[in-house]
Amino acid sequence: MSQNTAPSQEARPQDNNLPEKEEFLRDVFAGLQETPKSLPCKYFYDAKGSQLFDQITTLEAYYPTRTELGILQQHLPQIADIIGPNAIIVEPGSGSSLKTHLLLKALYQPTAYIPVDISEEHLHIAAQSLRQQFPHIAISPIAADYTKPFSLPPFPNTTQRIIAYYPGSTLGNFPPTQAIHFLSRLREVVGASGGLLLGVDRKKDKAVLEHAYNDPEGVTAAFNLNLLVRINQELGADFKLEQFAHDAFYNEQEGRIEMHLRSKQEQIVHVQDHRFAFAKDETICTEYSYKYSPEEVQQLGQQAGFQQKCLWSDPQDYFSLYFFSAVTA
Ligand code: AVI
Repeated sequence: MSQNTAPSQEARPQDNNLPEKEEFLRDVFAGLQETPKSLPCKYFYDAKGSQLFDQITTLEAYYPTRTELGILQQHLPQIADIIGPNAIIVEPGSGSSLKTHLLLKALYQPTAYIPVDISEEHLHIAAQSLRQQFPHIAISPIAADYTKPFSLPPFPNTTQRIIAYYPGSTLGNFPPTQAIHFLSRLREVVGASGGLLLGVDRKKDKAVLEHAYNDPEGVTAAFNLNLLVRINQELGADFKLEQFAHDAFYNEQEGRIEMHLRSKQEQIVHVQDHRFAFAKDETICTEYSYKYSPEEVQQLGQQAGFQQKCLWSDPQDYFSLYFFSAVTA
């Protein structure tokens, strides 16, 4: 997942060979030295963060998950027709969702399912469960950070086409230029006959958007603050949680939700031997979540080498699911 001028793991130079913890430390130092301060949103997802995110997806306030699920359920037969038989489904991100299950069940004899996820343990548990439910589909997980280049394992020669499945509006966590870059890489992965099934949250009333990221139960706030817990635990920092507050608002001009952690007072935070000074009300930007109109999504796809074939939405036009085919140059 991820972000723009402020919070961006992708905007920073990447080193594919850095051990995970060193990369985390490097990104935290870099992000806290910047003005304004930022942290990459990919670090939300430790075990506790993933559990909090799962909880967010069930909240009344957080409409995207259930809305996308409704769209998928309603249009599965048409989606199966457009994808066609003997497809391979590649899913960057978590591969254990109900959406994936419904899709695999509806498709005509898919040959393989390839979930790509950084969390090896989570990935293998999910793969094991899918193997039991779909004994005729080859389940071939790839444990990798999918925001970096990855290649597919050899696949059955009965395969007709490769389809990338990227639901959940995770594309919105990249700033637009990085979203195009990421989609271009998916275009390379699926090849000339491939396709892309993409779920993206839409621009809408500011109050609806802000409510979704400021749920009354405080789960999104806990999810945001958990990033500091993680930095304390894994990198030996001394963030005092009670001195930071969750802030989320819709930046209408940029078309994105911004999540921040706001320092409630002037303070110094230590991360190992580094000191970071915070002014009162200074924030760390932790996530952007871009919201896109269908025209904007069509353009993102086009710039990445895809052509939009279908679009499905809910009755309120809160969320859309798109099918793109690869375009050959
Ligand atoms: C994963 N991603 C699409 C979520 C979003 O809505 O941008 C992450 C999230 N952040 C706060 N709530 C949910």
